[in-house]
Amino acid sequence: MATADQIKNLVKAYVDRNDEKFKTVVLQIAAHEAKLGHDNFARELKLQIDKLGNKRASIVQLTSQNPMLLLSTPNYDLTELIVSDDISEKIQRILNEYRNRNKLYSYGLVNRRKILIEGQPGTGKTLTASIIASELSLPLYTVQMDKLVTKFMGETSAKLRQIFDSIQSITGVYFFDEFDAIGADRSLDNEVGEMRRILNSFLQFIEQDSSESIIIAATNNQRLLDQALFRRFDDVLHYSLPTTDEIQRLFKYKLVSYDKHFRITKELIQAANGLNHAEIVKVCDDAIKSSILGNQPLTSKGLSALLHERKNIYSYKEA
Ligand SMILES: Nc1ncnc2c1ncn2[C@@H]1O[C@H](COP(=O)(O)OP(=O)(O)OP(=O)(O)O)[C@@H](O)[C@H]1O
Ligand SMILES: [Mg+2]
Repeated sequence: MATADQIKNLVKAYVDRNDEKFKTVVLQIAAHEAKLGHDNFARELKLQIDKLGNKRASIVQLTSQNPMLLLSTPNYDLTELIVSDDISEKIQRILNEYRNRNKLYSYGLVNRRKILIEGQPGTGKTLTASIIASELSLPLYTVQMDKLVTKFMGETSAKLRQIFDSIQSITGVYFFDEFDAIGADRSLDNEVGEMRRILNSFLQFIEQDSSESIIIAATNNQRLLDQALFRRFDDVLHYSLPTTDEIQRLFKYKLVSYDKHFRITKELIQAANGLNHAEIVKVCDDAIKSSILGNQPLTSKGLSALLHERKNIYSYKEA
């Protein structure tokens, strides 16, 4: 039995919302129980606590079963994703249908679970996959595209089949990031268009899949998008550069938590226009870092300079 101190610490860690502390105390209790010879109980505790994962740093490992799948247990909240109301509602709907899938099954219906996300770099496609996994407490399996696609077509097909076997047998969120890599590398293609065939068989696998897992495919390749592709998915989400309102929300989310007196001006929003979400987040982090290290408050002037610096990276690239 855990000591009174351990229980007190456990409750304190919960009240403080300190996952790391909570984990440490549970592991202490497990060690204590193991010493008393209660091996099964200790093991059970450890198993449970493993599910908690690491905040942010997620546990990342290659599953022994399938080295093409990178397993992580992300810890995010839907509110962290700054997107239009339309997209946010669509994500809510995916979550809601998954949570109520048994009710839907009883009416012969299936929850939407094959999702295509298309959009510019740095607009939150990967983040969305992490959030969906986290919100549904499902493991996230990111398919390692580079390990999947080899110059041997037969091998690629066999690997694809293995992945879909995993999708069937281990419920999770399966994320095919930049899935068009399957069809995009023309140098791997030959005159009979085998790469294209692999892409088609990937789409067929998706179509035939009737598992409980959620499949998310992401691409920033507009070229690929056609009706034939859309047909395979239950939902298609289009991501684009942040609107003025989204820029404002990004600033608020990132900066006001650091300095609650910081005022977001129209000029700042204007200066961020044209940058993607990831770049704006990066600029905010840079501004905060510089404020911490310089022992100076956050200023519009400093932030504006960093935003321009970011934009200049582009003009340099285009020149
Ligand atoms: N819509 C968003 N809301 C909040 N933060 C965002 C959003 N989009 C991007 N970010 C921030 O930028 C980081 C990188 O974004 P993410 O990897 O999801 O972009 P992506 O669309 O997958 O880009 P790529 O096409 O390059 O893979 C995120 O971890 C997050 O910090
Ligand atoms: Mg991505």
